[in-house]
Amino acid sequence: MKVGIDLIHFATSDYALGLDTFAEEKGTDVNKYHIGIGQEQMSIAPPDEDIVTLSAKAAAPIINQIDRNDITAVLFATESGVDQSKSAGAFLHGLLKLSNRCRVVEFKHACYAGTAALQMATTMVKANPKETILVIAADIAKYDVDSSGEATQGCGAVAMLVKAEPRILAIEPGSGYYTDDVMDFWRPNKRTTALVDGKYSTKVYLNSLKQAWEHFVEETGRHFEDFDAFCYHIPFSRMTEKAHKTLVKKVGAKLSSDTFREQTAPGQVYNRVVGNSYSASLFIGFCSFLDNAIQDLTGKRFGFFSYGSGCVAEFFSGIIQPGYQQHLMTESHRQQIESRQPLDYQQYLAFYHQTDSDVENITFPHNNKGPFRLAGIENHIRRYESGIQPA
Ligand code: CAA
Repeated sequence: MKVGIDLIHFATSDYALGLDTFAEEKGTDVNKYHIGIGQEQMSIAPPDEDIVTLSAKAAAPIINQIDRNDITAVLFATESGVDQSKSAGAFLHGLLKLSNRCRVVEFKHACYAGTAALQMATTMVKANPKETILVIAADIAKYDVDSSGEATQGCGAVAMLVKAEPRILAIEPGSGYYTDDVMDFWRPNKRTTALVDGKYSTKVYLNSLKQAWEHFVEETGRHFEDFDAFCYHIPFSRMTEKAHKTLVKKVGAKLSSDTFREQTAPGQVYNRVVGNSYSASLFIGFCSFLDNAIQDLTGKRFGFFSYGSGCVAEFFSGIIQPGYQQHLMTESHRQQIESRQPLDYQQYLAFYHQTDSDVENITFPHNNKGPFRLAGIENHIRRYESGIQPA
């Protein structure tokens, strides 16, 4: 039995800050961003957008294609949780009007947790083929103003329907993984922004890739030549180039620059303009590859490298299924990106500061243009609004 991703759709916010605007404000050469880190824009969430509203926007087009009562579990991965106790997935479950016969849980490890949720879902379906699982990876990447990470913010959510006989990607058994207790990026309780040792974090990322790859080869017996394409966790898109160069060097492959580009470039198109979305970023990269590859991907083997600072990493693989093209939601992805409203630096700062909502009572101005929004907080209870009616 094949198990994997049956449908996949991502959502991002309605606003973006151009790194040209950012560079002008900071007095920096814009090529540091456009070329040096490979980023052009970052999606910015207004105060009435959070991981719950983003994930509802990501999941709604999937739910609309199935019977929502078929969902047996929601596995919600995030670094930017909205409550220390209640899972963000429980809010999402309410907004999407899912069945009460459903389990919901939140997964956390920095940017890695989406892969943990996906692998858990795959295992659950293998154990019981009747399971139909909604896997969510959603994050708002936020660093201190004027810190090295500020240019690599962004936000996004990915929804993946995981089931038997999937229509898009069959996930293959076996993976390589690696954990090390390091401090390259972390966010103590009560902080809304991450702390990061930027240069060190890129070193740990690349070392984790080598370690996870070695384990993957030992576990599966597959080699670099068995792969057609690679999706990496993308904190900023130039990291993909650094990662793939590291892997190519490790395995001693001789690739032309055209092959190098074919194996990685389609996966970077969206992340260049969405920015980092932590746990969602690998899977937005996968959407980007599916939507932007020129050739037919049927039967192609993809390698996926997931990295979460702190650190946990995993390399796994999957095969693109026949007819996958009919199930992509390319138009929705492109339309969301293209219709974002550009912000100037002061507007970005206003959103940035208002979003710190560690308050008992607050009503948020209506900036979110999507069907789901965070209206406010009343007596510490988050109040969401939804345009979706019960089925
Ligand atoms: N034209 C062209 N290139 C330029 C340039 C110019 N005018 N000016 C600088 N550059 C190049 C630099 O040479 C450098 O290239 P290399 O990486 O090849 O050396 C690149 O632009 C970046 O310049 P700096 O190193 O000077 O930039 P920085 O000090 O501002 O830091 C960063 C870059 C460390 C990535 C920083 O953005 C950061 O801290 N980001 C957050 C942490 C992060 O994303 N880490 C990634 C790994 S951890 C992870 O993946 C988990 C996660 O999601 C956070």
